[in-house]
Amino acid sequence: MTKEKEVEKETQKTEQQKVKLEDLVSFAKRRGFVFPSSEVYGGFGAVYDYGPYGVELAKNIKEAWWKAMVQENENIVGLDSSIFMHPKIWEASGHVSGFSDPLAECKQCHTRVRVDHLLEEAGVFADEKMSEEEINKLLVENKEKLRCPKCGGSDFSEAKNFNLLVQSNLGNFTGDWDKEPTYLRGETCQGIYVNFKNVLDSVRVKIPFGIAQIGKAFRNEITARQFIFRKREFEQMEFQYFVRPENGMTEYERWRERRWQYYLNLGINEKNLRWHEHENLVFYAKAAWDIEYRYPFGFKELEGIHHRGDYDLTQHSKFSGKDLSYRDLQTNEKYIPHVIETAVGVDRTFLAVLTEAYTEEELEDGKTRTVLKFPKKLAPIKVAVFPLMKNKPELVKKAREVFGELKSEWMCEFDDNGNVGKRYRRQDEIGTPYCVTIDFDTLETGEVTVRDRDTMKQERVKTEELKDWFSEKL
Ligand code: GAP
Repeated sequence: MTKEKEVEKETQKTEQQKVKLEDLVSFAKRRGFVFPSSEVYGGFGAVYDYGPYGVELAKNIKEAWWKAMVQENENIVGLDSSIFMHPKIWEASGHVSGFSDPLAECKQCHTRVRVDHLLEEAGVFADEKMSEEEINKLLVENKEKLRCPKCGGSDFSEAKNFNLLVQSNLGNFTGDWDKEPTYLRGETCQGIYVNFKNVLDSVRVKIPFGIAQIGKAFRNEITARQFIFRKREFEQMEFQYFVRPENGMTEYERWRERRWQYYLNLGINEKNLRWHEHENLVFYAKAAWDIEYRYPFGFKELEGIHHRGDYDLTQHSKFSGKDLSYRDLQTNEKYIPHVIETAVGVDRTFLAVLTEAYTEEELEDGKTRTVLKFPKKLAPIKVAVFPLMKNKPELVKKAREVFGELKSEWMCEFDDNGNVGKRYRRQDEIGTPYCVTIDFDTLETGEVTVRDRDTMKQERVKTEELKDWFSEKL
């Protein structure tokens, strides 16, 4: 790492996010966004479940990505390939031999640690692409600086590369897993490469064109910290753009710009984003940058944007024996397209969006409120409907009517519990942009009170105009 980069990283480290990770974790659980997996059994490392509001937020994130990457582009199509694929795919991709992280064990408390992360925390540059030898050299040289995250010890075993692929016994009835291992996919993009020809032959696309996919991926991550940032079962939104080799770098730069702009459109403050260039490119890559977000634990990778050259299609051609080249019908030229990849996790976007939205505000009466200032398109619930009092059947009936009308268009919630002030606070905490209250005047005038989450201002809107009003606002 250059001196300037080190200084820049140090400076940025000192600026903290407004919310601490532990506060966000307990808030996310309390308000039904994220639950630890299998909690009644004591939890299951690095696996999490999305609760009722979390599943809505994740769905809205995926929809926003799909709209930006597929719907709004004439030359980009979607795909949903399987989690299980032919095991040879993972040999061709290099995952069987080289998809590993350096693991060491603390000799004092036996905690397993990722050595590149340990070194990084001590200010020493290292990454998972280094050989065992290189990593062990750094481990010895920096022994005094390293601290076990659990017990603080500084005596570690030798680092060994640990393969991250998760194995299964699918279709193997021998009882011996290692004999013919199958894998849960370690990344979704391999499904795109092996379907390149199918897409080309079945849909009217020609180079340049892209294939996008959202789906689960699995990795035996060594460290199970940082909440949903690093999960063993996670979801990726990956996009591969197939281009003529000579246009690779221009397209790469274009996609870098587009992806940066995408995060601004998603409501992320630019000061919480930064670029990180990979120091140590894999041999086939022509360029690799990450977009990093300022999480509560500092700037970390949100999305990777890679120029992968012709590596993937060439490898799959070799290993499958099938020709995966492209023929230009106009010039009759035949070539292996180059690939520009943009790859981001749903979970990392979720954590970024949640961190960004989380706000604690002091109110005029001296009280504070917690409010999630999601962009409206991402809010799990768009409108909450309240009868002013739950023991007045005429108010409840009218409120139910309004709720019934609106819920066919948007995710809505009906709430008649506690006073209206408390109901506002509850909706603020889950980021609902609008609350509608039905009161006695509604029965006379047909008007309801609509309250805005961010300004907390209220206005009267006619019941029959509510749908149009929300269509415009949402
Ligand atoms: N196909 C390229 C690829 O998979 P990657 O950088 O390993 O590249 C892409 O992963 C993105 O997937 C990351 O930028 C991150 O957003 C997400 N991701 C990777 N590992 C993850 C994990 N263990 N938990 C959650 N998200 C993860």
